[in-house]
Amino acid sequence: MSVTVAELSTYLTCPQVQVFLVVVLIAVIIKSLMQRQDEAVANEAEPEEVLPPMEKRDFTLAELAIYNGKDDPRILLGINGKVYDVTRGKGFYGPGGPYGVFAGRDASRCFATFSTDASVIKDEDDDLSDLNYMQMESLLEWETQISEKYVLVGKLLKSGEQHTNYKGDESEDEVKGDPEKKDD
Ligand code: HEM
Repeated sequence: MSVTVAELSTYLTCPQVQVFLVVVLIAVIIKSLMQRQDEAVANEAEPEEVLPPMEKRDFTLAELAIYNGKDDPRILLGINGKVYDVTRGKGFYGPGGPYGVFAGRDASRCFATFSTDASVIKDEDDDLSDLNYMQMESLLEWETQISEKYVLVGKLLKSGEQHTNYKGDESEDEVKGDPEKKDD
């Protein structure tokens, strides 16, 4: 069965046919919008798992190293003898992040010398005694910035130093800083 152009134009001028075509068009548009919405929902990233706050504790360099965002999902950063939980800055300090080299390490020397080079970080205790005035100032400024954004977990212990017992009497805490979660 073939339809001539003349017959087709007659059909198209018929109001019932026009209404039918409009309904079909609207149905197609709605279906495609719904499909796009389904795709968007399917592509949505899994919600990030938020870790519970860490109990206050001190760390040796070896203990700190585990918290690098890979061996443990939590990311801790050592700076000027303190340890901060920087997990919420995963984009910065997580694997592949621009400052991923600081994760689970004493990053003091990097902050003091404005370097992201892993070789700057010492494998053993770093007493920072060779830093000049400007480098110490830089380190302290970075420390202030980090402390304003992240939660202080404890101290970074020098070899031979004992872990502080933070359980019980809060007044015995030797770590200065606000242990409350910082929302920004
Ligand atoms: C030319 C080199 C650099 C550029 C262009 C640069 C750029 C940036 C930018 C754009 C941000 C994000 C700021 C924000 O969104 O709040 C940032 C954050 C940061 N940068 Fe750099 N940066 C450089 C070098 C360094 C170096 C050498 C260090 C380490 C000593 C460093 C440590 C940091 C830290 C710790 C943060 C903040 C992360 C946080 O909020 O937790 N940056 N930088």
